[in-house]
Amino acid sequence: MEKYKIIFLPDEKKIHVKKGENLLHAAIRAGIYIHSSCGGDGVCGRCKLIIKEGNFRSEPTGRISKEEKAKGYVLACLTSAQGDLVVEIPPESRLDLEKVTDEEAKLLRLKGLFTPAEEVQEQKAVLKETVFEHSPLATKIYLKLPRPDFNDRVSDLERLFREIRKKRDIPIMQTGLVNVKRLGGLLRESEWKITATLGKRNETTEIVTIEPGDTSKKNFGMAFDIGTTTISGQLVDLNTKKVLGTKATYNKQVVFGDDVITRIIFATEGAGLERLHHAVIDTMNNMIKDFIKEHKIHLNSINGVTCAGNTTMMHLLLRVNPRYIRREPYVSTANFVPVIRAAEAGIKVSPRGLMYCVPGVSTYVGGDITAGVLACGLNEADELTLLVDVGTNGEIVVGNKEWMAACSASAGPAFEGSGLSCGMRASKGAIQIAKVDPKLNVKFETVGSLRPIGICGSGYVDLLAELFLRDVITRDGKINRELGSPRIRRGDHGYEFVAVYKRDAEADHDIVITDEDIDNLKRSKGAIYSAISILFRKMGLAFKNLNRIFIAGGFGSCLNIKNAITIGLLPDLDLKSFKFVGNTSIIGAHQILLSYEAMKNSEEIARKITYIDLSVEPGYMDEYVASLFFPHTDLSRFPTVKAK
Ligand code: FES
Repeated sequence: MEKYKIIFLPDEKKIHVKKGENLLHAAIRAGIYIHSSCGGDGVCGRCKLIIKEGNFRSEPTGRISKEEKAKGYVLACLTSAQGDLVVEIPPESRLDLEKVTDEEAKLLRLKGLFTPAEEVQEQKAVLKETVFEHSPLATKIYLKLPRPDFNDRVSDLERLFREIRKKRDIPIMQTGLVNVKRLGGLLRESEWKITATLGKRNETTEIVTIEPGDTSKKNFGMAFDIGTTTISGQLVDLNTKKVLGTKATYNKQVVFGDDVITRIIFATEGAGLERLHHAVIDTMNNMIKDFIKEHKIHLNSINGVTCAGNTTMMHLLLRVNPRYIRREPYVSTANFVPVIRAAEAGIKVSPRGLMYCVPGVSTYVGGDITAGVLACGLNEADELTLLVDVGTNGEIVVGNKEWMAACSASAGPAFEGSGLSCGMRASKGAIQIAKVDPKLNVKFETVGSLRPIGICGSGYVDLLAELFLRDVITRDGKINRELGSPRIRRGDHGYEFVAVYKRDAEADHDIVITDEDIDNLKRSKGAIYSAISILFRKMGLAFKNLNRIFIAGGFGSCLNIKNAITIGLLPDLDLKSFKFVGNTSIIGAHQILLSYEAMKNSEEIARKITYIDLSVEPGYMDEYVASLFFPHTDLSRFPTVKAK
């Protein structure tokens, strides 16, 4: 088989490819990560590369403009080498999977994805978090055992159980053969002074490890939020409850597609499941490795791990094939997974350390939402409360301490910048805040205060609202051709509005919002609003009954609520009732790591929430179609927007 050499610029990374292998695969093999929202289907147009030298074959695509084609642009997933190639990766295609930089961390914090240790307390105050009894997933106990003699001849294991029971009220206790085998020697070599790590495995207490001497002060745990896009992790001292550090990084799975459906499809083909599983555990293990280095602790002192994520992410983490999630009648393999050993899932902590996955409600409402409900205390609220978690899927929970109902809206990845002509994730150079003046000039702020490369979700919400109020966008979501502004023109994909001219941008083109983009964004906002609306109708509620609205996840505090109401993404309610609650998924995972009571509460929440499947709900489609207007076909639902 013929082999060709590919050199990727600017890193000058070289790799050999077989004839026919596409450049997206070649880049991944070379350790270079590029945007590939659709997972290589040639649909998203995000994997653009520039061929500098050599022969290649590229399938036709409408995602490359004539101007770009002339400059050598191709889609990596549709292009293969016909000889040696030199290929440049433009900045907008590159995905930085390394640790999130300070600037990005700042943004992720604003988005609610990242919570530095010192801010955890502050965030808890906003949430009025329930205080759970301190009983972590793993506890340590230092014991000085009495030596056996002729008056006290119980076995070593019974002696250990007896000593533990003197200090703790534990009716059912067990341990593994590995501990029993080394117990005799260990007790005698350590002069009967040992530290036992105890873990709760469902209703039983397990002696997880036995160490010589007193190691009781070294007891740590990890709480993770496994997002489809981002993974956040916290290192926690299980004795003092102190968060020692928080990190956030992209989930390495993003190179296999942006949304869960693309990943499920990938998982069902060839070695797809294996690759997705390794991508997520690599991300987590690298984070753990960084933590132990920074905090000078030993891997073996991390004894507990909790993870919260959507149902597909949990399947991939546990290497369980998620194929049935998207087959009728859409049933997952497991929503409740008992406590397991972290090593069974490939997580590198203490070899016998325990891991708990926060239980999910259903196939499309996962453990991240259960953790979110726990974190914001919705399950204990007296008044009617709504939790909206906006991500690739919009998850919505409504209820109080008596009852809870949830649904999931497939909002699509538009608000994460995917599938849009100039869309990008909220990373460096993304327009995150925008304002349009009466002359239609756009004032904006970018992540890192850099020259703009593209627009992220909160930037799009601002632009849509501002352009709608300035009559640039019509109620049915079209660019107003009649307006006669030089910023409105016909482009490759219909009419478009130029937000930033190339001369003021870091991109190789004008930054625009097109009819097609508006259509995509309209579908996303329509999916979320109609889901909230149908959920309320189903439960016999009206928006006016609502006392509090928690906004969690993706947008976080970057989202301008007024603008979100203007476009019809959120219901038109008193702005004071909205509260940003940040990344509730990791806050919930953290609570569970530190408290068995919180773990039990999470299980009760997951059982108690009634899942409403919108796809079989009568009237959902009508409501969705009615929401595909700005703000809605029924303007009376948005009185403040009507007044404007
Ligand atoms: S178009 Fe290539 S990955 Fe989407």
